[in-house]
Amino acid sequence: MELTLNSPLDMHLHLRDGEMLKNIAKFSAQEFAGALVMPNLVPPITNIESLLSYKKRILDAANDNDFKPYMTLFFKSDYTADFLEKAKPHIAAIKLYPNGVTTNSEGGVEQIDTKKLALIFEAMSELDIPLCVHGETNGFVMDREKEFGVIYEQLATSFPKLTIIMEHITTQASTELLERYENLYATITLHHLLITLDDVVGGLLNPHLFCKPIAKRYEDREALLKLALNANKKVMFGSDSAPHTIDKKECCGCAAGVFSAPIALSALAELFEKHNKLTNLQAFVSNNAKNMYKLTPSKKKITLEKKEWIVPSSYDDVVPMFANQTLKWKVKSKI
Ligand code: DOR
Ligand code: ZN
Repeated sequence: MELTLNSPLDMHLHLRDGEMLKNIAKFSAQEFAGALVMPNLVPPITNIESLLSYKKRILDAANDNDFKPYMTLFFKSDYTADFLEKAKPHIAAIKLYPNGVTTNSEGGVEQIDTKKLALIFEAMSELDIPLCVHGETNGFVMDREKEFGVIYEQLATSFPKLTIIMEHITTQASTELLERYENLYATITLHHLLITLDDVVGGLLNPHLFCKPIAKRYEDREALLKLALNANKKVMFGSDSAPHTIDKKECCGCAAGVFSAPIALSALAELFEKHNKLTNLQAFVSNNAKNMYKLTPSKKKITLEKKEWIVPSSYDDVVPMFANQTLKWKVKSKI
């Protein structure tokens, strides 16, 4: 049994920089036609010069794999309309992080005041630049995304022409919000479709499944699955694959992030097949994103076959999701 996916896209990806970039870019570059690259480097990507040189390093690391990095800028409250106009040809979106809510988000927005930031959001609306948002407050860990809902509502109603992407949604409440406002869209990760908080801390602690936002309850996972498996047009795949070296994960003060890039398509095929929804995977991993972001990726075809393989225990010094476990689908060819 085989499955061919046309131009798969990963609309939320951390590629890092330096040695890590060189080691991990291939996993996405081989199996995806393109990816929306997150700007949370240290220091973050906040100007066109650093964005273009980062893009070049990504293309070098992708090593002729016919892979388009769709670049993002790290939202700063002092961006001007003039700057955004100059940035527009080089970016697919701008990513907003509330200050300090996740890895490398220091320098994010202290307070999301829609009135104070109106000029930026209006300019983004005019220029048709999507706003990607890490939607968490700094409240109680299980309620952070839900608490952020009021900000999504303010953004959606104050700037009806702004395309707002709720990144890596994890709650039933977010799925309801998404349906309520026309200009809200969302990415969903592989791990949030597969795990709940039980898998992270319910038995022995699993640091490799610790991420932000933290995995939630069973009913939340059900709500996400419903959207993804039915390829709801407002959701798209964004892995949020976020590698950290093993010493940063298996320690006290474990870094947040799940490294899923090497297993993403295999595990998605297994999940969609299990629910008898394999025919909807194409829309979830490509078509919906192409429509939402108005993208024209290369015509890359990835064929998977039903063949078991064991996920390596690590790739260099990074442990992937499903390390040492057997997956049922394997990538067979890439053209
Ligand atoms: O778990 C996460 N890791 N969530 C994020 O928002 C950032 C990411 C990272 O960069 O490691
Ligand atoms: Zn992320």
